[in-house]
Amino acid sequence: MNPIRISPRRSRFDRVTEPDLKTLSPKTPEIVIVAAVADNGVIGRDGDMPWQLSSDLRRFKAITMGKPVVMGRKTFDSIGKPLPGRPNIVISRSAAAIDGAIVTPGLDAALEKAASLIEGDTTEICVIGGGEIYRQALERADRLEITHVEGRVDGDTVFPAIDPDVWTLESEERVCAGERDSHDMRFAVYRRTA
Ligand SMILES: NC(=O)c1ccc[n+]([C@@H]2O[C@H](COP(=O)([O-])OP(=O)(O)OC[C@H]3O[C@@H](n4cnc5c(N)ncnc54)[C@H](OP(=O)(O)O)[C@@H]3O)[C@@H](O)[C@H]2O)c1
Repeated sequence: MNPIRISPRRSRFDRVTEPDLKTLSPKTPEIVIVAAVADNGVIGRDGDMPWQLSSDLRRFKAITMGKPVVMGRKTFDSIGKPLPGRPNIVISRSAAAIDGAIVTPGLDAALEKAASLIEGDTTEICVIGGGEIYRQALERADRLEITHVEGRVDGDTVFPAIDPDVWTLESEERVCAGERDSHDMRFAVYRRTA
């Protein structure tokens, strides 16, 4: 579904201006959206997560480690530092440079840059939020790794609707809240089928 192809490596810290269409190679990475979403669609509040979910953080780390992660500037700000062990690609119209991350001016450039930074056996790019970036990336994604946070949660940022005509639930695992989780969860994987 997505037109991105892996292209040769560039410096990890340069600012990308536009996708380098001349250097495309035939391999297509999978674009994976990773998100935790409450029953009412909420993903964030006041620039932060509206819950405490250690189990989800463990899942997030397992899914994303070693893979390029693409995020909006506000999500980078909320994390506060680059995620270790993963090339961090930040989408921003305003930021010129961010220590430890690559700044790109839009989603296309971010995905192109991410594709060029895939290493080893990895074939995936992870799009990790927030709301603005999920909305733009959903039509480009191949797979959704969603932690459904059980319950309605107050917040100001939401995940777009997951259209059942487009996305098929491939697997789902229920996880009861542990000591460091504020909510029960379901770890779900959706695959694009249209
Ligand atoms: N539950 C979850 O899984 C999850 C995951 C991630 C984040 N979150 C939450 O989501 C919230 C943040 O989401 P958000 O929607 O407010 O912000 P966001 O998507 O993280 O970032 C928005 C910023 O990205 C840049 N941007 C967006 N589209 C762009 C485009 N087409 N071209 C260039 N730059 C673009 C702009 O940066 P500039 O302003 O610098 O130009 C914009 O202000 C926080 O509450 C966070 O905790 C939740």
